[in-house]
Amino acid sequence: MAAANTTTATAAKKVILAPMVRTGELPTRLLSLKYGADMVWGPEIVDKAIIGCKRVINKRTGTIDFVKPSGGARGEEKVVFRTHPEIEGGKVVFQMGTANAELAVEAAKVLVSRGEDGEREGGTVVAGVDVNSGCPKHFSIHAGMGAGLLKNPDNLVAILTSLVTQIGIPHSLPISVKIRLLEPHSETLKLVERLCTTGIYRLTLHCRTIPQRPRDPAIRDVLADVANICHAAGVECIANGDVLSRSHALQLCDEYGVDGCMIARAAEVNMSVFLPDKPLPWKEIADEFVKTAVKIESHFTNTKFVLGRIIPGKDPIYQKVHQAKTHEQICDILGIPYEPLSPAIVEEMSVEGKATTKAV
Ligand code: FNR
Repeated sequence: MAAANTTTATAAKKVILAPMVRTGELPTRLLSLKYGADMVWGPEIVDKAIIGCKRVINKRTGTIDFVKPSGGARGEEKVVFRTHPEIEGGKVVFQMGTANAELAVEAAKVLVSRGEDGEREGGTVVAGVDVNSGCPKHFSIHAGMGAGLLKNPDNLVAILTSLVTQIGIPHSLPISVKIRLLEPHSETLKLVERLCTTGIYRLTLHCRTIPQRPRDPAIRDVLADVANICHAAGVECIANGDVLSRSHALQLCDEYGVDGCMIARAAEVNMSVFLPDKPLPWKEIADEFVKTAVKIESHFTNTKFVLGRIIPGKDPIYQKVHQAKTHEQICDILGIPYEPLSPAIVEEMSVEGKATTKAV
């Protein structure tokens, strides 16, 4: 069993922001943490996208950026992954799309590398690397990634074993996997048993089969059995699918014996579902989201996309935001101050010399 692999069945239950392409960028993760998420997953990033990135401190935003030279559409630099070490440190898991063990390891090496100026001595900025083995979209399956890996378990096992032995153990970095249900249920149990021999730290079960769509209700029939198999191997088990709030997550943890639950769509619409009580009104979430996005200089297109989920389609603000062209205009529409980074804030937010986050 891997060194990083200790059972956490008795540890506090975790309520986690699920990985979401586009939605799960830094502002959503920061807001989820603000409202009490115990951990956050980044959006799936394909191995080849992170390979070749340089790790740089962004003094303006207080973030660590993984930047691809000439990775942009017009050959400009592109920030592939941005994390805020002081807020997300020890809590953000990098999710990878991959179909190849060597590329997966090469990609993960970028995450445990030091920046050019040697910052963050010996530490990694992420709290784990997760392999997406559940995405049912054509582009993933076609390339052998996501749910494509469920059809080729030998390759999935090879990827996880390589990540555990070459990255997980030497860097004390938990390696995990997120899968979907197989049919019949016995196939799910067989697969989980195999995956638990790879030395992974944690397994998330999205309680839907590959052909099931988000509108189909989650199937939790095998969840308790999956949790038992995981725990027998010292692997943490997380449930995903139709989890609506922190209290719902904790109830499911009790009912099925899982170590935590991941929330995707409910958190996409309102990140305050991580609070112990009722979620906050959407306007409060929209305001906080935009303030956060402006502070960390998030992409405007991302702000607009996520606001399109937060603001109810029937509210007059929805159309106005849809037509906005800048963060300043959106602040104006929401009636909040537009506060881009001033030189003083840049100085205050600089993380130089105080980046001390450790991976779990
Ligand atoms: C997702 N999902 C997803 N899953 C994953 O493993 N990696 C990813 O990058 C994404 N991206 C993504 C984007 C968006 C916009 C949505 C809505 C979903 C799937 C997600 O993590 C989760 O498994 C499902 O949405 C089921 O959980 P809920 O929505 O029922 O809580």
